Amino acid sequence: MSSVVALETAREHYPAGRVVFQEYDAASSAYVIESGFIEISTSIHGSRRVLTVLGPGEMFGEMAALDGTPRSATASAVTDATLTVIVSDQLRSRVESAEPVLRLLLGVILRRFRHEQNLFRRGSGNVLEPTTFLAPGTEVSRGAVDKITLESDLRDALKRKELALHYQPIINLRSSTITGFEALLRWRHTKHGRIPTQKFIGIAEETALIVPIGQWVLENACKDLLRFQEHTANELTMCVNVSGRQFAEPGFLSEVDDTIRRTSVDPQRLELEITEGVLMDHRSAPLQWIEQCKQLGVRIAIDDFGTGFSSLSYLASFDIDTLKIDRSFVAAMENDPRSLKIVRAVNQLAHALGLDIIAEGIEEPAQHQLLASIGVDSGQGYLFSRAKPFDGAVELLDRT
Ligand code: CMP
Ligand code: MG
Repeated sequence: MSSVVALETAREHYPAGRVVFQEYDAASSAYVIESGFIEISTSIHGSRRVLTVLGPGEMFGEMAALDGTPRSATASAVTDATLTVIVSDQLRSRVESAEPVLRLLLGVILRRFRHEQNLFRRGSGNVLEPTTFLAPGTEVSRGAVDKITLESDLRDALKRKELALHYQPIINLRSSTITGFEALLRWRHTKHGRIPTQKFIGIAEETALIVPIGQWVLENACKDLLRFQEHTANELTMCVNVSGRQFAEPGFLSEVDDTIRRTSVDPQRLELEITEGVLMDHRSAPLQWIEQCKQLGVRIAIDDFGTGFSSLSYLASFDIDTLKIDRSFVAAMENDPRSLKIVRAVNQLAHALGLDIIAEGIEEPAQHQLLASIGVDSGQGYLFSRAKPFDGAVELLDRT
């Protein structure tokens, strides 16, 4: 094809009438039309049939480029045309890194279309091999099916009352009294039993289900706080985790406000936990968000402190109340002098800024003692208690 001029490596020029590829050719690329028009035709059953004419901005040849099957039609230039060449790998690498359910969908649609093409070809002796690209039954597609079914179940979980809040006590490390609880969401699936929290929270975030679920959590945590308070003279704080998606939701703060009014909980006793990552991800939003929280009287804690971007600038800019030092530092501090120094330094930092500090993941008495001797105010972890259903948490209050 001497008259086909390769302008650059990725660009080809076709004069009117020139064939780009023939039906049944082996293929390694797709094309995007930069200028001109391309006709797609097939000559099954003896006669040539034009399937479509494509213009600037449209892509063709993607089917074979994706699944490696021979060309399902002939492409030729109806006018002079300039095409951008998209090599298979450019497409396939995108597909490989795509979200599993999207891959599943792409596979389903491609196979459907291949099937239709073959119905049309039947009797011509020119049926194309069925594609194995993104085939069902592979690990990836099974994973995607599991994920999307779990997502449907999660939609119903609230209605079916499968979600529950468990409460992990937060302990004053000097007096060993309970100063509050962190509300943790649990899902007991009718068929699969307990679903790990990380897994379903991830799904809830991707699908925005986190918004109604988060609202349910907030409402119930506030109601339960009032019920807990009947069991102790100490003023309790309820910590509620807020995800990035909720944080980004414009209506979230007015929901918080409504919930406070509806439940008549004291906003000073409500602490919203956000991670450093969430603060840094929403660069422009946090200041406003935190200011509005403060106007509502709600407290803010930084969750998993020290594991995110660790930009200390937000501690200077934002009116934070509490740092929750990540469990990884607590776990390492006895054997790793550096982790211990970090715990000490974070504690000093918190106190210098007038913030409370909570150590996460305390599992051993020695960790409790060490943290208390450093001057860390509060902590939580298996040493004191796992997260318990409401009644179990009440028992903890009644015991102390
Ligand atoms: P591929 O099979 O790689 O090569 C031929 C291309 O023509 C195909 O990818 C699609 O891009 C396009 N094509 C095939 N069938 C049709 C159709 N029925 N309508 C429009 N375009 C088609
Ligand atoms: Mg938390």
